[in-house]
Amino acid sequence: MIRYSWRKFAGWPVLVMVAVVACLFCWHGSLTAQTSQPASSHATPLGLIDHMDLMQESLRTLKRQILDPRKNADSANLVAEMLIHAANAKQMTPPKVRDLPSAERTDFLLAYRKKMNGLCKALLDLESALLENDNTAAHKHLETVLDFRFKGHREFKQE
Ligand code: HEM
Repeated sequence: MIRYSWRKFAGWPVLVMVAVVACLFCWHGSLTAQTSQPASSHATPLGLIDHMDLMQESLRTLKRQILDPRKNADSANLVAEMLIHAANAKQMTPPKVRDLPSAERTDFLLAYRKKMNGLCKALLDLESALLENDNTAAHKHLETVLDFRFKGHREFKQE
């Protein structure tokens, strides 16, 4: 039977090297973890108009494919993204509020928020219809979304 003696073990230098490299690796990892920021903290935050523009972009694609059942998964994802933009836009202040007398501002902002909630609900209905592969219902809910856009802009967009 072969017996190894640790004192005579010839692989020590290699083991020490491996340990040193592993320590350096961990040390570098912890440094970068401390200094690097999440990507989003570098990005310029999106404003109301950016969220609206991004909704518009998804809407353009949706209108083309709303009746195509093969595209339902993609369409549902587009709607889910729109919902995130609508939820963000809801918490922002439409520039038009500055044109109003201060006594009217609170009601204006409340009405804006409610209208955006209506849009969010319509988007949820639209997403659900797409997930159920009910393209007729999806088409109907898309019309509702378009109606919210029309009425929302008429009431809350600056001239
Ligand atoms: C899917 C629905 C909607 C889409 C696709 C949409 C799209 C847009 C677009 C493309 C703009 C113009 C952005 C630019 O100037 O570059 C805009 C602006 C705006 N939208 Fe919407 N919108 C939608 C729904 C709504 C609703 C429901 C409201 C109100 C409750 C609303 C309120 C506004 C406001 C306040 C602005 C800013 C205009 C300004 O600067 O005065 N939008 N939207």
